Amino acid sequence: MATNKGNGLSFMFSEDMYSYMTPIIILAITVLWLLWSVSSYFRDRNQPGPPLPPGNLGFPFIGQTVEYVLALRSADGIREWFQKKNDRYGPIFKWRLWGYEMVMMDLPEGNQFIFQNEGISHHIFWPGHMSTLLGPDSLLVLTGEHHKLNRRYFDRFFDHNSMCRYLPEVNRNAVRHFTKLWQGKEQVVAHEMTNLYTFSTICNLVLTLEKGPRMDKFLVDFHVWTQGLSYLPINLPGFQYSKVLKARKSILELLGEVMEQRRKEIAEDRVSEAARIDILNNLLTVPDDEGNLLQDSSIKDNLLLLLIAGFDTSSSILAMAIYYIAKHPHVYKEIVHEHKLILEEKRLSGKDDDSLTMENLSAMKYTWRVIKETLRLQPVTAGGWRKTVTNLEYKGYYIPKGWLLFWSQSVNYSPKYFQDPLKFDPSRWERPPPLYTYLPFSSGSHTCLGNEFAKLEMLVFIHHLVKRYSWSLIDPNVPIIRDPFPKTLDKTLIAVKDLTSS
Ligand code: HEM
Repeated sequence: MATNKGNGLSFMFSEDMYSYMTPIIILAITVLWLLWSVSSYFRDRNQPGPPLPPGNLGFPFIGQTVEYVLALRSADGIREWFQKKNDRYGPIFKWRLWGYEMVMMDLPEGNQFIFQNEGISHHIFWPGHMSTLLGPDSLLVLTGEHHKLNRRYFDRFFDHNSMCRYLPEVNRNAVRHFTKLWQGKEQVVAHEMTNLYTFSTICNLVLTLEKGPRMDKFLVDFHVWTQGLSYLPINLPGFQYSKVLKARKSILELLGEVMEQRRKEIAEDRVSEAARIDILNNLLTVPDDEGNLLQDSSIKDNLLLLLIAGFDTSSSILAMAIYYIAKHPHVYKEIVHEHKLILEEKRLSGKDDDSLTMENLSAMKYTWRVIKETLRLQPVTAGGWRKTVTNLEYKGYYIPKGWLLFWSQSVNYSPKYFQDPLKFDPSRWERPPPLYTYLPFSSGSHTCLGNEFAKLEMLVFIHHLVKRYSWSLIDPNVPIIRDPFPKTLDKTLIAVKDLTSS
C-alpha cells in the first residue's frame, strides 16, 4: 500500500489517496476557519458592555503573523499593511501576532495613551522568543520599579556631560574610519561602511574593544542576532532561529571573557585611559542608588542590549541618509553649505583640524533635519508592544487584560500630520510636528537610552563624509527593503570622489 516516492509523508499515503485527501483537507480547514470566525463574531457581539475593537483575529495562534512578517520585509510593505487595516477598520483595530491578541492604536492619541499610562494599565512586553534573545535582565524587558531603578542607573552614562566626554573618541574613530577604509576608492558600499563605523563606535563606547579577530567575530554574531527579530521562532536544526540562539550564546561567552579581563585590569590598576570612561568600566565599578553593583547576568544582558541597540539602528539610518542626500541634489547642496560654514568658522578660530566640539554639532541643524526626515520615512521599528495588566476601556472599546497594545509609527505617513508624507523634505522640520506623531526613539519610560549618542555619532560621520567626499548613487532606482532595518537592495552602492586629493 505505501509507496516510497514523493514527499516525506509518502510512506503513509498512496498517490491516489493524496489526490482526494488534498481537497478534503482544504475543505476541513475552510470549514474550521468559517466556524471560528462566526463564533468569534457572535461572542464579540453578545458580550455585555462596550465592544471589542473591530478587526479580525484570524486563526488561533497564527492570526496575521505570516502576512505581518512578510510585510515587514519591504519598506512599502509594512506601511501598506497598516494602511489597508486602517482603511478597513479605522485606526483602532484588533489583530493577532505570534499567538497574542493585540490592539493597534494607529493615531497620535493612541500613542499618547500608551506612553502616558505605562506602568499603570500596561507595561512593556516582548513575545517569548524575543525576550529570550534579549535576556531577562535587559532594560528593554524589565518592568515597573525594577526597570526604574536600572534605568536611573544607566541614564547617568548618557547625559550631556557624558556626551561631551564621548565626543573626542567618536570623532577620532570617524577620522580613522575614513582614512583607512575610504581612501583611494572610486566606489563604496555605503551600508557596509556605516556598519563598520557604528560597530567600532559602539564597541569603543561600551567596552573599548580593539579592532581584530574578536571584534570581527562579534560583528558576525551581531548580524545573525539582529536578523533573528524577523525569523519564525522555530528552534530546530536548519532553522534560522536556532542559529540566532547560538549567536547569542557566543556573544555572551565573549562578553564574559572581556569582563573577566577587565576585572583583572581594574584590580591591577592598569586600565587604559580610553577604557576608564567606557560603559563596562562604569558597570564594574559604579554602584546603583542602593549601593549595589550590578549582577554579572544584568551586566551581560545590558552590554548586549547596548551593542545591539546602538549598532544596526544608527548604521541603517546613516546609510539611508546617504541614499536620500544623493537622491535630492538641493538637499546635498544645502548640507555641503552647512558644513563649509562650520569648517570656515573653525578655520577663523584657529582650529583648522579634524576635531569637533559640541558647539560644532549644535551648528549642524540642517544635517539633523535630514536625519530626522530619514527616520520619519524609514523608522527602524514599526512600533512596539505593551501588555495590559487590567481590563481597559479606550475610545468606547473594551480591551481585555492580557491583550497587547501596539504603539505605532505609521502616523509618520499620514497626510493629516505630514504634508505630502511620502516626499523626502527636511525643511518640514523647521517646525515641530504635532505631539506623538513622530516617535523614532519611542517615548515614555523605555524611550531610547542612546538617542543623544546616536545623534552625536551620526552627525560626526556625516561631517567627515561631506568634508572629504562627494558621492552619487550607482542605481538611483534601487528598491528599499527591510531585514529588519531599512536598507537599499544594493546596500547603498555609491560612486565617490575624494575632495581632499584635488
Ligand atoms: C538611529 C538610532 C536609534 C534608534 C532609531 C533607536 C530607537 C529605539 C527605540 C524605538 C527604542 C524603544 C522601544 C520601545 O519603546 O518599545 C529604543 C530603546 C533603547 N535604545 Fe535605542 N535607538 C537608536 C540608537 C541607540 C543607540 C546608539 C543606543 C546605545 C548607545 C541605544 C540604546 C537603547 C536602549 C538601551 C534602549 C532600551 C531603553 C529602555 O528600555 O529603558 N539606542 N531605541
